[in-house]
Amino acid sequence: MRKAVHERLNVRDVKSFCPIQKEEAASLAEGLILHPEIKVFRHLHRVAASIGWRALWGFPTITIDGPDPTHRLDELGEDLLKASIPGGSLVDIFPPLRHIIRHSRYLMRKSNTWFEDMNRLSIHLYDTSCSSKARQEWGNSFGAALRDRERISGLSPQDEAWLTGQLFVASNDTTSTSLAYLVLAMVLYPSQFIKVRQQIDAVVGDSMPSFEDWEKLPLVEAVMKEGLRWRPPAPLGVPHVTSEDIRHGEYFLPKGTPLVANLWTISRDPALYTNAEEFDPSRFIHENGKLKQGTPDSHNDYLAFGFGRRVCAGKALAINSVWICLATLLWAFEFEPMKDADGNDILPNPMDFVDCGATVRPLAFPMKVIPRFPDLLQRIRASRDHSIN
Ligand code: HEM
Repeated sequence: MRKAVHERLNVRDVKSFCPIQKEEAASLAEGLILHPEIKVFRHLHRVAASIGWRALWGFPTITIDGPDPTHRLDELGEDLLKASIPGGSLVDIFPPLRHIIRHSRYLMRKSNTWFEDMNRLSIHLYDTSCSSKARQEWGNSFGAALRDRERISGLSPQDEAWLTGQLFVASNDTTSTSLAYLVLAMVLYPSQFIKVRQQIDAVVGDSMPSFEDWEKLPLVEAVMKEGLRWRPPAPLGVPHVTSEDIRHGEYFLPKGTPLVANLWTISRDPALYTNAEEFDPSRFIHENGKLKQGTPDSHNDYLAFGFGRRVCAGKALAINSVWICLATLLWAFEFEPMKDADGNDILPNPMDFVDCGATVRPLAFPMKVIPRFPDLLQRIRASRDHSIN
């Protein structure tokens, strides 16, 4: 399965999704202007969901003021992410219990319902996206490309449907959470965003940032890396289990031992990062303004995606999504704390989290979203029309 994913989501091929990502970033900015009554995190959730919805199945965009067709998938994803944490089930503590549980309809009812719903939904979405009508209307997608290569990948249609559904689950919360932390950083550390906005203004002028500007905007990449380092959205990664007995130094790990890579702690390793608690994108930038080479042993400072053979399969797609949304938000808005009755800033607590299982997101907080240009809406629409024509 990893091979099938890699064939379509590698660094080169994900470029075909850039137009979708740019359009969705424009819709994010437009939505924040037109719907200030909707919470900022809800806008971030929409943009992540809509990119996945369009790239994986080729469906039309999800609007901020319309129904959310991904709602049930989100619920199923949340159950999965919670269940994946070691210790989340009694079986993790007493593995022999699984033989008893497996034969009890009562004890299996929750996981059976989860499986049936996920199966039905994944197959329905996959079949719909592969139908010729959908392809004509919405173009090609990850799922449709998989079906075209079915014989080569060796996966059954059911495998492909599941794979596409699971990619959506893996992509949604992680992407929106990384954007939420970046917005939190903008509110808490405004001085760290002055230079990057100056760089964006100098490079893009009146129009929205686009992927062609990437090389000219090293500070945006530095800010993105710092956001992912400062607050990895999946701080303990995805748990693994040893597939054989392992001896590591003085430790013996028998086959079947759960293993957790503590990305939160590794991203704070003082041997790699000084003042690690501080949000400071300049750690990734040379004096001459160029992006530094990745810190040794840090996977190019993208530890938030894990490492090794099970490194995040959607890393390239995710980096592009976060980059274009971040660049757009920085260009379009200032995010500021609310004030109390005496005019003092009400700062969110950076250690207030919501535990969603594998992902941990910041607790929502009220903030002011201030457009940086009086004609922002026209600029966004003009940039969008320009990229479509
Ligand atoms: C900023 C966004 C994202 C972050 C921070 C993130 C982070 C992670 C992490 C930490 C892992 C576990 C790696 C390990 O076990 O060592 C993972 C696995 C995975 N991710 Fe992501 N991810 C993101 C976006 C995405 C997207 C967009 C997709 C798909 C389109 C995706 C698909 C996957 C899959 C399939 C796995 C499991 C890989 C395996 O076990 O072989 N992720 N991700």
